[in-house]
Amino acid sequence: MNFERTLIITGGAGFIGSHVVRLFVNKYPNYKIINLDKLTYAGNLANLKDIENKPNYRFVKMDICNFEGVLKLMQEERVDGIIHLAAESHVDRSIKDPFTFAQTNVMGTLSLLQAAKAYWEPFGWALPAGDAVPPATRATLGTVRGGTMSEANGGVERSETVARGSSIPCRFYHISTDEVYGALEMTHPEGIDPPFTTKASSGKHHLAYGEKFFTEELKYQPHSPYSAAKASSDHFVRAFHDTFGLPTIVTNCSNNYGPYQFPEKLIPLFINNIRHRKPLPVYGKGENVRDWLYVEDHARAIDVIFHRGKIAETYNIGGFNEWKNIDIIKVLINTTDRLLGRKEGEDMDLITYVTDRAGHDLRYAIDSSKLQKELGWEPSLQFEEGIEKTVRWYLDNQAWLDNVTSGDYQKYYENMYAGR
Ligand code: NAD
Ligand code: DAU
Repeated sequence: MNFERTLIITGGAGFIGSHVVRLFVNKYPNYKIINLDKLTYAGNLANLKDIENKPNYRFVKMDICNFEGVLKLMQEERVDGIIHLAAESHVDRSIKDPFTFAQTNVMGTLSLLQAAKAYWEPFGWALPAGDAVPPATRATLGTVRGGTMSEANGGVERSETVARGSSIPCRFYHISTDEVYGALEMTHPEGIDPPFTTKASSGKHHLAYGEKFFTEELKYQPHSPYSAAKASSDHFVRAFHDTFGLPTIVTNCSNNYGPYQFPEKLIPLFINNIRHRKPLPVYGKGENVRDWLYVEDHARAIDVIFHRGKIAETYNIGGFNEWKNIDIIKVLINTTDRLLGRKEGEDMDLITYVTDRAGHDLRYAIDSSKLQKELGWEPSLQFEEGIEKTVRWYLDNQAWLDNVTSGDYQKYYENMYAGR
């Protein structure tokens, strides 16, 4: 079968990656989607059961650090785009084992950048439309450098391949995090009316805990080994654009929640513990603030930005939905209790305050106005709907939870929480 475009999505077996792979495989049957993933503890092919037999999907088990392997794959498959999500992603693990984070997040990203440069540069960053491209499209494909792809084809919805000439513009899209900006001050612990709102903002609880937000211009100030490694990878991506002309885009997103998240992260870990009536380990006083976005809305933003974002730009992604940890934990307890048929709130006594995370960032709050204004992206799901959907998904998929919490997970849990 001929495909219009061939993309590698790295980390596609993980939490966010699996939602991105699913969206692209279903929405773009004319694209070949290659999920390149090493399948670490966080990678799980069960996350993609529903699309694994689609003709435009291929899974390749590979480490992003394998430069030769990635280059060969790009050449064999004539890959014209990379959406890079593969990473070590958990802050607590980075505190225990920073080396792995530097290796995967920094060296792995560098290896992908080098492979993309080696393959694409001789073509002038646009692949000649060859056999991999249907003749109808071939006549209208072209290079767009420093411009948006949508300028060329007039919109995202049809073939996102690009008009003009006879080549497919290449693109390296790096997915990063808001944590690279460091921590914001909590100037208003009681909460104030936020200056922004989106469809994702909570209806019942819409507060900001400070006057400042993360904007794209802010200087990087990472604190954890995780965010330091992500910051370093972001710098490498920009350096490859500035030095070699590699067509890159970077986005920085706030905390994601939703189905298929590994239960080391706050929301799935707490839902799992509530169902087993295990203590809920709240770090410090539970006052830290995070800005939550439903994962499918992040995937939709990635789709829009991959196709219409400007080369060399950075876009922040978030839904203006700040929550103190303790408040979100109470919502989780109430929702899980209700859906399990327990009395709402009866598991509040599981809350257990434990030693704080070292270097724990106080507040994240992202300003995503640029993305909304320039590319028209809006989240689709309000927080109340999203959290209900999420808790229901974990409770309806307890076999998935049981599977990922067996074996090594018990050791991880002991190591991270025993005696804390
Ligand atoms: P995750 O930990 O759930 O998944 C990571 C995936 O990468 C796994 O499938 C894993 O097998 C794979 N992987 C790890 N090392 C690899 C390697 N060396 N080679 C190939 N594959 C490898 O992560 P996530 O939460 O889905 O995050 C995905 C990306 O989004 C990361 O880059 C993360 O920094 C970023 N991000 C995450 C959030 C969030 O809230 N989870 C928010 C903003 C940005
Ligand atoms: O902001 C984006 C980032 O969000 C992503 O880049 C990271 O990959 C992702 O892991 C996430 O980082 P956080 O550290 O914010 O997420 P986590 O779910 O680990 O923690 C959320 C908050 O909850 C944080 O303030 C720490 C707290 N927490 C977490 C756990 C796991 C607890 O109080 N207890 C816990 O057991």
